[in-house]
Amino acid sequence: MRAYEIGPEFGLDRLRLSERPVPEPGPREVVVRVHAVALNYRDLLVIEGVYHPKLALPRVPGSDGVGEVVAVGPLVTSVRIGERVTGTVLQDWSDGPLTAEAARTGLGGNLDGVLSEYAVFREDGLVPVPSHLTDEEAACLPCAGVTAWSALLDPPNGLVPLRAGERVLILGTGGVSLFALQFAKIAGAVAIVTSSSDEKLARARALGADVTINYRTHPDWDRLVREATGGVGADVVVEVGGAGTLPVSTRAVRHAGRIALIGVLASQEAQSFNPLPAMMKGVTIQGVFIGSRAAFRRMNAAISGAAMHPVVDRVFSFDDVPQALHYLKSGAHFGKVVIRLTPDHHSSKRSV
Ligand SMILES: NC(=O)c1ccc[n+]([C@@H]2O[C@H](COP(=O)([O-])OP(=O)(O)OC[C@H]3O[C@@H](n4cnc5c(N)ncnc54)[C@H](OP(=O)(O)O)[C@@H]3O)[C@@H](O)[C@H]2O)c1
Repeated sequence: MRAYEIGPEFGLDRLRLSERPVPEPGPREVVVRVHAVALNYRDLLVIEGVYHPKLALPRVPGSDGVGEVVAVGPLVTSVRIGERVTGTVLQDWSDGPLTAEAARTGLGGNLDGVLSEYAVFREDGLVPVPSHLTDEEAACLPCAGVTAWSALLDPPNGLVPLRAGERVLILGTGGVSLFALQFAKIAGAVAIVTSSSDEKLARARALGADVTINYRTHPDWDRLVREATGGVGADVVVEVGGAGTLPVSTRAVRHAGRIALIGVLASQEAQSFNPLPAMMKGVTIQGVFIGSRAAFRRMNAAISGAAMHPVVDRVFSFDDVPQALHYLKSGAHFGKVVIRLTPDHHSSKRSV
């Protein structure tokens, strides 16, 4: 089978397509023929050696794949051959709080990932795919979807979920952010979306964004957020920028508001962070690391209930994975960038 590999050195332009044997499942493992893979900013960080500089190489990147079960280990009882499944990014996080052990079981990180014609999953690291989604749409769920879901509606540490009528500030229009916009609308919240592009902001309004702000033409976007909220500030911030945006997000959030700390997109614009304003506003800053399999299942139920479709920006072929990663890196996308591995395979509607 063909698989992309990072190694022997990190680097987007060093990613190579190699031949590997089709994997055999271990006793509690499942082998899946991969039909579609969604890319994440995390994949760029892993491939470039930023995320895990000491990662053992070679490694197959990619965390989000959908496919059909083709082989199961002798002790597997909950998954059948032929079922359409996707994997949890953290293979060993079934439920409850995140543990150090579960955090080390990331697909396309410490474990080989899904940019491969066949991939191995742990039996407990699989979930059914909502039946109304195509393979390309379902592939968007594991990382971007579950992260936005955990941040807003299913926080793992007993924090308050987003309530109807609350105002949520969402930074940018990448994968996590558009899931956050869609979940905010399902929850009946008011969505404030920022982007570097007026054209993308128009598309965000079409998806339900109530207030839109161009953060390039308005570097003081925190002021516009306060203006849009009657001087109060946002109740919740989906913080995907990290060190480059956290000081501004802290000015944009209300007293006793919540900031879901998710990403590092604006690292190159890093500012020093003075914790005093966050402290004196009584802000809760909550780190979010994807989510458990139980949260993934609850998210899928909500997505099915709302007949929600993830926003797929563009689909590339398996041969064009390097071009797709460069496209993702350019930030030109709106939503998710997806790889189709099996062009002859119908967009399956089956689910387990
Ligand atoms: N903690 C976790 O569990 C977790 C899970 C998933 C992702 N992440 C992290 O979350 C971040 C988002 O991931 P993703 O896969 O959704 O990324 P993505 O799809 O690549 O997002 C790209 C978009 O981010 C926006 N952006 C870039 N710089 C920005 C800035 N300075 N201010 C506001 N928006 C900015 C841009 O939107 P516009 O073009 O509209 O300006 C850009 O198109 C990444 O840092 C990723 O590593 C963390």
